[in-house]
Amino acid sequence: MHFGLRAVSTMHHLLGKLFILVLCLNSSIWATQDLVFYDFKGKKSVLSFKEMNRRFQSDVIEVMNPASLTLEKYKAISFRKILNHVYGEDQWEKGFGIKTKSTYNYEPLIEVYKFQNREPYLAYAKADGTPFKSYFKDKKKLMNLAPYYLIWVEDYKNTNAARRRHHWPYKVASISLEKDPPVKLIPHVKKGTSEYWGFKNYLKQCFMCHQAYGVGGKSEGEIITNGLTKKFTDKKLALYIGNPVSVNPKSKMPEFPLRIDLRVKRIKDIVAYLRYLEKNDPSKIAKQKKRKFNSKDIDQVLRELKD
Ligand code: HEC
Repeated sequence: MHFGLRAVSTMHHLLGKLFILVLCLNSSIWATQDLVFYDFKGKKSVLSFKEMNRRFQSDVIEVMNPASLTLEKYKAISFRKILNHVYGEDQWEKGFGIKTKSTYNYEPLIEVYKFQNREPYLAYAKADGTPFKSYFKDKKKLMNLAPYYLIWVEDYKNTNAARRRHHWPYKVASISLEKDPPVKLIPHVKKGTSEYWGFKNYLKQCFMCHQAYGVGGKSEGEIITNGLTKKFTDKKLALYIGNPVSVNPKSKMPEFPLRIDLRVKRIKDIVAYLRYLEKNDPSKIAKQKKRKFNSKDIDQVLRELKD
């Protein structure tokens, strides 16, 4: 009897400890919403949520959420002001793009000109005080957007909604400046070929989730060296990219943007590029041919990637 009671009290004690542990873990995730920054050289700096709010004015921003297609109001800070503060005015504009990294390893590389042509904001709360959540993808599941959600103020009536939806990363935890496009993934082919256009489209539509030869977003991992692309015929691969659930009913991969212009051609070009990658590790080719990208090449690629 005595023994039984002691066991129960020990268990209470342990549960209490566990409870405190869970509380600590929770507070480290939700209470301190630090944002981590890396500069061109990979040097790290951190801006705490407190400092961000002390330094910058928050605005209430109304945007059309491209996933749920509803108007939503957020408490947000001008992202350009933050970039100017962290990296120095105009400094962040000197590279190719800005990569945001989400807590689940989604890593879009967003071209610098997009931050210049539109008004980017870093949202950290819903303006009406409701939980920082929104509907995504299947529109049935509410997603927590914390720590930060990158939103854009733009003239959504005059721009293609389907194109925008790929650059609204949520759960953003860090930011890094990228001087160049991922040089390792640039195919060594003539500009204007299907493989080359495929690379450009791959960068915009696939790179954030997948890796090729270890380069790219880590949320879904490698697709080339582990043979995932190889197992499909060209036709099946194009079908999978255009409509993943038609090939795999349980697929969680987003379909290639529906309202984008030249959709079929873009998908075909991506398939051609993936086939190229299967046969050639571009970084190895660069070594074999001793072809190093000099700044002139990069400038050319930058210009081309803008259109
Ligand atoms: C938002 C993240 C995301 C993006 C963007 C994305 N994928 Fe995927 N991809 C996935 C997920 C998740 C899977 C796992 C299988 C599934 O759910 O269909 C996957 C699987 C794959 C596979 C393997 C399929 C299999 O059956 O093993 C290939 C090949 C692939 N993706 C190619 C692409 C290409 C090409 C693009 C760009 C046009 C792309 N993905 C864009 C999330 C993504």
